[in-house]
Amino acid sequence: MLDFDFYITTPRLAITYFNPNQESHVDFMMRLYGAEEIAASTDSFSMEPLTREGALKMINERAEQIETTGFGRYLVSLLPHPTNETNENQSQSKLDMVKAAQLIGLVSLNTRDGAKSSPIPDAGFRILSSQRGKGYATEALDGLLKYYAQEKQVLEVLAYCDPINEPSKAVLRKLGFQEESTVELEAHGLVMNLGQWSRGLKKGIKDYNQ
Ligand SMILES: CC(C)(COP(=O)(O)OP(=O)(O)OC[C@H]1O[C@@H](n2cnc3c(N)ncnc32)[C@H](O)[C@@H]1OP(=O)(O)O)[C@@H](O)C(=O)NCCC(=O)NCCS
Repeated sequence: MLDFDFYITTPRLAITYFNPNQESHVDFMMRLYGAEEIAASTDSFSMEPLTREGALKMINERAEQIETTGFGRYLVSLLPHPTNETNENQSQSKLDMVKAAQLIGLVSLNTRDGAKSSPIPDAGFRILSSQRGKGYATEALDGLLKYYAQEKQVLEVLAYCDPINEPSKAVLRKLGFQEESTVELEAHGLVMNLGQWSRGLKKGIKDYNQ
């Protein structure tokens, strides 16, 4: 069973597990993949808005994935601004602050099954459209990659993104990813040509692609 009190923090954000027993997390997943957010996508994938059952299934499957593989999808929340009052009396514990944080997106490091998959984990991110352009995706992925590097010695990372997804490519560039060639990969149930990006590879990308 995952420890749902687990968290990582960055200067402005908290990164935690999605908890299937937390209604607010299920509601948030539905919102993040709801009609409004799909319409504001920065890539060309078209998908159906997530139902409550779909959101719950996704959270349950991803929680199981983290438990069994150590890789998966994490919730990103915006920490409250520290007020003078909390600075003075330290009345709020860090965990309380994390629990009070505003849900704004997700960040992931995933391994994939399938014949065409690389054994290296790949990074993903999604931020509510109302919260974009503030550096949150970059900060969240930076924090997650530092955690995996320090705690799990994972330094070789890939990412896949739609070649037209300029904001996503900007995030990857800012974090030192290099653009590799385009690969055919299944995403959202469709086979797509996606740009492959890499960071920290010890060998050439061709040695990893199957
Ligand atoms: C991709 C996404 C997560 C970025 O989130 P974000 O919090 O706005 O990202 P950041 O603020 O950290 O960085 C965004 C960068 O993209 C840049 N950018 C935004 N729109 C751009 C455009 N049309 N062309 C070029 N750059 C663009 C911003 O200027 C910023 O770079 P800068 O800091 O150098 O100015 C967000 O757009 C999103 O959720 N998109 C839908 C889901 C998705 O596509 N996920 C990625 C799948 S691979």
